[in-house]
Amino acid sequence: MKRIQKALLTALFTLATAGCGAPEEDEQPTPLLEEGESTGDAEQSASVNEGARLFKHETFQGNGRTCETCHTSGTGTLSPQQAQAAYIANSNGPLFNPIDSDGRLGTSYSKLLNDATVTVDITLPANVTLASDPTRRTLMLRRGIPSTIDAPSLDSVIMWDGREATLQTQARSALLGHAEVDPSWLPSEDGLNSIAQYEQTLFSSGAMKNYAKGKGPAPALPEGTTDSEKRGRMWFAETGVCGSCHGGPLLNRMTAGNPMGVPANSQFGIAFVSEFNLAGNPMLTFNVTNPDNTVTPVSSPDPGLMLVTGVPQTAGLFKMTSLRNLKNTAPYFHDSSAKTLEQVMVQYKQVLDFLGIPNTPQDIADMTAYMYLL
Ligand code: HEC
Ligand code: HEC
Repeated sequence: MKRIQKALLTALFTLATAGCGAPEEDEQPTPLLEEGESTGDAEQSASVNEGARLFKHETFQGNGRTCETCHTSGTGTLSPQQAQAAYIANSNGPLFNPIDSDGRLGTSYSKLLNDATVTVDITLPANVTLASDPTRRTLMLRRGIPSTIDAPSLDSVIMWDGREATLQTQARSALLGHAEVDPSWLPSEDGLNSIAQYEQTLFSSGAMKNYAKGKGPAPALPEGTTDSEKRGRMWFAETGVCGSCHGGPLLNRMTAGNPMGVPANSQFGIAFVSEFNLAGNPMLTFNVTNPDNTVTPVSSPDPGLMLVTGVPQTAGLFKMTSLRNLKNTAPYFHDSSAKTLEQVMVQYKQVLDFLGIPNTPQDIADMTAYMYLL
């Protein structure tokens, strides 16, 4: 990590963790459920049903994948265990397409099997080039699969770097990219709207669904039963280290602003995932031309938001995904470097130590225990 960048990032994390606010009311979330229910409006229900069909079954003459190939029912994501089971069942199945093989060579799938990451192609901003290949305009990265439960309805930031404006443009890009659909076979506007409507019926709990429909309050932080869980909760209160960034109904909105112009309520933050790079992804160097024509080199395996903004100071910022239903949505982080909540805390222990925020093994155990309740 470059020293200047490190100082900026440290300021960002530290300021974010200095957030404050009123404690939330408590309520235990209701158990996991999935799938939409009739809205009472016949036309809308028909559209949601069509969206479910397109999401789960329709391949649009592409490579055989559906949305559900990666966003599996129940969790909205894909775990390494699921990828491994699919491989044992049929190593030629639609998930195992050469586009997501190691290095896209079509010979092995160790990254997909071990990390459940797939490839994405991202067009570089006009002022950003790759040092090793300055004429290349599209970057291939491996990223984890965020859960399509709760977020499509309650989260307007789409993708780890926020690069898609709407669920409809997202679905279109997913079909063209992951499913290799020929543009002439893409669904109509109505079809894309149906997919979006269906996605917005997927919730992790009855309380979350009621909240999304304006029929109830935002689910609060669970109280915790054991002493360890109760202590863990304090880290997630708005005044706690974790809660200062992980606030709001989905625990993915920063409560305080920060010095890099990311406003309060923003969903972009830094957990030093690219910086520590526990996933061991290849390091890339980017040359970013600033408005005054100076060039800033940025080294990162995945600079996240910078790939949208073209602003070097936003390298390393990623969307915070929902922390609700966390125990069911492994693996974690944009690179799926953490397979378990215990491994999430291996990352955060390094972050806390790096920033000089005191923590004991008991604190780490308390936070881990609490995350199982979200
Ligand atoms: C090969 C696996 C794969 C397939 C198939 C796939 N996705 Fe995804 N999906 C991903 C990955 C990986 C990301 C995150 C990529 C990124 O941020 O760069 C993602 C992100 C998303 C997001 C954003 C979630 C968030 O919280 O930001 C939505 C919504 C989504 N996909 C819906 C769909 C739909 C709809 C389809 C089918 C048309 C689909 N996906 C097909 C892997 C897949
Ligand atoms: C400065 C803001 C910030 C603070 C403080 C913070 N986080 Fe995060 N958290 C993030 C960001 C940003 C991500 C996404 C990082 C990525 O994938 O690169 C994230 C991701 C996560 C995830 C993974 C979610 C998923 O499904 O992939 C968990 C779990 C998590 N944080 C827990 C914690 C805990 C525990 C603490 C307190 C020790 C904490 N966070 C403190 C910003 C923060």
